[in-house]
Amino acid sequence: MSLENCVSSLLGDGVCVLPTETVYGLACSALSVSAIEKVYRIKGRPATNPLIVHVLNHAKANDICFTNEFSEKLANAFWPGPLTFILPKRDCIPRQITAGLPSVAVRSPAHPLFRNVLERLNVPLAAPSANPANKLSPTCPQDIAEAFGKDCPEILDGGPCELGIESTVLDLTSEFPNILRLGPIGQTSIEEVLGCPVNCTSGANSNGTKSEIPKTSPGQESKHYAPDTPLYLYPNINVMLKSNHLKSSHVMVLPHPPVFAKKTKQGPCSLYFSQTGNPLDISRNLFSTLRRADKLNKEIIHTSLFPDNDELYYALNDRLGRAASVRL
Ligand code: TXA
Ligand code: MG
Repeated sequence: MSLENCVSSLLGDGVCVLPTETVYGLACSALSVSAIEKVYRIKGRPATNPLIVHVLNHAKANDICFTNEFSEKLANAFWPGPLTFILPKRDCIPRQITAGLPSVAVRSPAHPLFRNVLERLNVPLAAPSANPANKLSPTCPQDIAEAFGKDCPEILDGGPCELGIESTVLDLTSEFPNILRLGPIGQTSIEEVLGCPVNCTSGANSNGTKSEIPKTSPGQESKHYAPDTPLYLYPNINVMLKSNHLKSSHVMVLPHPPVFAKKTKQGPCSLYFSQTGNPLDISRNLFSTLRRADKLNKEIIHTSLFPDNDELYYALNDRLGRAASVRL
């Protein structure tokens, strides 16, 4: 769809898909209850899981929530970008956005098309990831068309997403900042800017194992972002390559060439998350590669956690942990 049509649809309480630097979002006016209800319906999202609101900058964030010193420092460092704050909401935000919570999730997206729409509308936009609830997040328009089929909302095409995984979600409503969802902005980068320690109660630990700490974000079910094919997740590549679960009717996803399994008649086919092994390339391709593996219609997808030597891998391991049906 064109930018003009997108703007007029959103002004008329419509819903359309917009590109962000993380993943595509299913967008609507954050001030229109009827549009918000459409978003929940299209996604099949439970009414108990609140939506993220997107704004142009920190001053605009302050129109919809009570910003503070932490959010100001972090917005100066990372906005526009993949960092979402949870802050106490103002009355203008309908309770349907926040699932009745007194707080709202807010971020300023970096994608120029999304920013252009925000500038023209001058209204905050709710936009959860544009996937049916619990499925893989979309990183290009084709993913959305395939997932929603004939009921697909109109899409503003912004090409493939630069980062490929959803934003870091940081709760700033209590004395100590707390990461609810790991993402492209890591814990140490946040701590450096704030000059104080930051907690992390994201549903999975950095190594992808399930956290013992209770979840505090309503949308952080441990099963999430899942392909349709069962996914077996190994602690590292070596354990995977030696596994006796591997069969020719399966597919194995590896970080990059030239890592490959011994080619035997019984071996599965291989796909790679990237050609380079660069963490950002892997992040960009994480969901699209799992989708490609899913489309092969094999019996099982095998993949392994990334090493703990890069903060971005913590977030990727979190996503793999949620996509896995079996942990080995
Ligand atoms: O990168 C992103 O964040 C993408 C793009 C489109 O901006 N959006 C996205 O939205 O991932 P969504 O709805 O799929 O994830 C938002 C997460 C959910 O886990 C939700 O439960 C949590 O933020 N959340 C929203 N409001 C919250 C609140 N008031 N308190 C705690 N968690 C909240
Ligand atoms: Mg989502």
